[in-house]
Order: sequence, then C-alpha cells, then structure tokens
Amino acid sequence: MDKYIICGERRLTGTVDISGAKNAVVAILPATVLANGVCRIENIPNIADVDTALEILNSLGATVSRIDKHTVEIDSRTIVTQTVPHDLAKKMRASYYFIGALLGRFGKASVPMPGGCYFGVRPIDQHLKGFTALGAQVLPMKNGMISACADSLVGNSVYLDMVSVGATVNIMLAAVYAEGITVIENAAKEPHIVDLANFLNSMGADIRGAGTDVIKVRGVNRLYGTTYSIIPDQIEAGTYMAAAVATGGDVTVRNVIPKHLESITAKLQEMGAEIEEFDEEIRVSAGNFLRHCNVKTMPHPGFPTDMQPQIAVLLSMAEGTSIINEGVWENRYRYVDELRRMGAEIQVDGKLAVIQGVPHLTAAPVKAMDLRAGAAMVIAAMAAHGVTEIEDIQYIERGYEDLVEKLRGLGADIRRVSEDEPALQTAQ
Ligand code: EPZ
Repeated sequence: MDKYIICGERRLTGTVDISGAKNAVVAILPATVLANGVCRIENIPNIADVDTALEILNSLGATVSRIDKHTVEIDSRTIVTQTVPHDLAKKMRASYYFIGALLGRFGKASVPMPGGCYFGVRPIDQHLKGFTALGAQVLPMKNGMISACADSLVGNSVYLDMVSVGATVNIMLAAVYAEGITVIENAAKEPHIVDLANFLNSMGADIRGAGTDVIKVRGVNRLYGTTYSIIPDQIEAGTYMAAAVATGGDVTVRNVIPKHLESITAKLQEMGAEIEEFDEEIRVSAGNFLRHCNVKTMPHPGFPTDMQPQIAVLLSMAEGTSIINEGVWENRYRYVDELRRMGAEIQVDGKLAVIQGVPHLTAAPVKAMDLRAGAAMVIAAMAAHGVTEIEDIQYIERGYEDLVEKLRGLGADIRRVSEDEPALQTAQ
C-alpha cells in the first residue's frame, strides 16, 4: 500500500473546490436501481467508494456509462440478478443500501454483511426492523449474506430506536414502491438524507419531510430516469476548514452550502478562527491562537461525528483542556494512539476524550486507522514539526477526491510514495 510523506509547518492558503458528497452519492447510486429509465448523475466525487458502487451496479447487470470523471449514466432496466458479490460488498459500508433498493424494486435482495470503518459494533437491526415492518421476510444470515424477500411491500410506520442515517436511507429505498404510506419517525436529518429524497422525488417518488425527524413516503407505481447533481460534501469542506486553522492558514472552500456547515463553522469560531460566509463559499482564517473548547458529536444538525478526529487534532494544539463526547459511535478514538505518537496528550474513557493542549505536534510514522482518522493524521502532519509518514492511506482515498493535488494547491508539502520507499529519518 502507498503512503503519504508530509513536511509540516506549511500554512495552507488559497482556494479549494469541494467535491460531491460521499455519503450522498453512496446512497443515490444504489437508488438508481429503482428507476425505469436512464439516470444521469452529475458532480459525483472521484473516490474509491463511487468506483465500488458502480462495480456493484455493473455486477447486477445494470448498464453503467462513465461520461467523465464526475458524471455517470446508469440504466437499471438491464439488471439480471439481485445478489451482490462478496468481494465488492466488503469494500464499503454503504453496499447494504442495495438491500433496500433491490427489495423495493424486485421484492428480493441478497447482500453480504458490509465492510467499512470499524467504530465498534455496527448493527443493522433498525434496517431489518424497517424491512420487516413493510412486510418483507428477512432470512437468517447464511454465509455472511443478508437476504430479504417480499411478495409485496405495504407502507407502515417505523419508529427508529436511535437516529440512524443508514436505516433512514434503506427504509426510504424499500418504501418508494410500497403500497400506501410509510412513515419513518426519529429519522436522520443529514444533508445526504435530503439529497436522496430530492433525487428519488426527481424520479417521480412522493417523499415529504426529509430533513425533519418524520419522513413520509407515499408508494408510487413507476419511477423514471432523471438527471441529478450531488450536493457538496460537508465533511470534505469541514476537513479543509480544520486544516486551514491547524496550519495557521487562510483558505476559502468553494462550491459549498454554508448552511450544511453551520455547526462546524460555529465550533471553529469558538476556537478563535475568523469565518466569512458567502453564497457558495466560506473563507477560514486562523486566529492568533487556538482556544480550547468542548465538543459533543450528535446527529445533524449537531456537530458531525465525521468531523470528530479532525477537530481533536486542533484541540490537541489548543491552549488548555478540552473534552470531546462522542455521541454517535461506540468507539471512534482509534486514531488517538497515532496522535499520541506525535505528542498529543489525550486520555480516552469510553465515549469521552480529555485533551490537554500542547504547543505543537511533532512528526512520527503513523497510520490511517479509518477514513476520517486518516484525514486527521494528514491535518496533524501538516501542522507538526518535521516530516511525517502516513501508512494505510487507502482508507483516506475512499472518501477524499484528489487529496494530494488539492492540498498541494493550497501550499502543503505532501507527496504519495510507494510503501517500499525507505522509511524517513523523521526530522525533529
Ligand atoms: C453513516 O453511517 C455514515 N456513513 C457515517 O460516515 C456516519 O458516521 C454515520 O452515518 C453517522 O452520521 C455513510 O453515510 C456511508 P448510523 P451509518 O446508522 O449509517 C447505531 C464517514 O466517515 N445503529 O447513523 O452506519 C450505530 O451503531 C462515515 O463518512 C444501530 O444500533 O451510521 C451508531 O451507534 C463513517 N442499529 C448509530 O446508530 C442500526 O440498525 C448511528 O449509526 C443502525 C445504526
């Protein structure tokens, strides 16, 4: 596997264009299974998870045409099987969205238990509860495959035990053709949930309330092909904003929806950053110093858990003591040991992390433990004294388009090298 070599203490300055949202596109691509026609999806990010989703569509028999780096056309009328291959499903968490889509369209689906980032146990009981509520039969797990079938799907009310993005997506997908009305209560309200609902409605679905905690889906008889553009990625934008603050820089993120970034913007301002908002861009200038603060990650519109590792890097260099309370995942601190190698002083106890700020981080050989943990290590390396090597960068490249090129465009000293390049004597 390749690795990144990053020379620290470089201020990031300039503008960076934000790509389409990973967590929207990995839901919308499976949703094209539901269309009786060609779907043209624009502004897709050029990332490994998109490649995997398109390979799965192809393996089902759909006709997939890559128009350019950011545009694809999909015709699902040629689908011949409702079974997703193991080798593709295990590459990403969102492969389980094909259960809801295939069940919704064909009344059957067989999909392997998904892969994806490890944050402790990641159950899917709420997804299955939703499918069952719609009248599907979920078969006992066999050979790691989740299989569901239904002669017909009938609308029903589903109250989610906890706010779940995945369950909200999967139940919406299964419900669009179900007879009558499906009500999803305690639904997730993330921007990518709204984007999926807007996409489905552009195909002729009848979904109301996306973005609130009650989503109503009225079943329809037919969904048509459509042309749709993916929303900008709030987490990619937040990651670059955090990198600007970490390096004492001045960066404008372009092609964003500022409203989607409100909780991130507010937290960076609380830490001393200066923020200027425009219609489709946000300028972030680091303050003279980083102020400590507390962070509790919550479902949208709270502070996003997918920004937790990145904000922890900033707090590890802030004056004073900060506390992070991870409100979504059982264990999302696997990056802490890597950050400690760089001099961070962090104590983790269950969902709480107590961070004692240090004047600066210092380069060390580290690993990307998962997608956002890896992004956090990149931020730490760009701020640290010395030259840092980051291994296992494949996790990072699952979710960040052209990361090296975009960061170099902002003045970072980062390069991608093959893993067998001799280890650096990390300069202190
Ligand atoms: C989605 O994961 C995102 N992934 C995650 O982003 C994100 O961290 C998460 O939502 C929360 O925003 C994609 O969209 C592809 P959940 P998901 O269902 O859907 C529990 C990234 O970095 N739960 O909202 O898997 C679960 O264990 C990734 O882009 C159940 O108990 O998350 C967790 O504690 C990482 N049973 C909580 O709910 C269920 O059936 C929220 O999970 C489902 C979830």
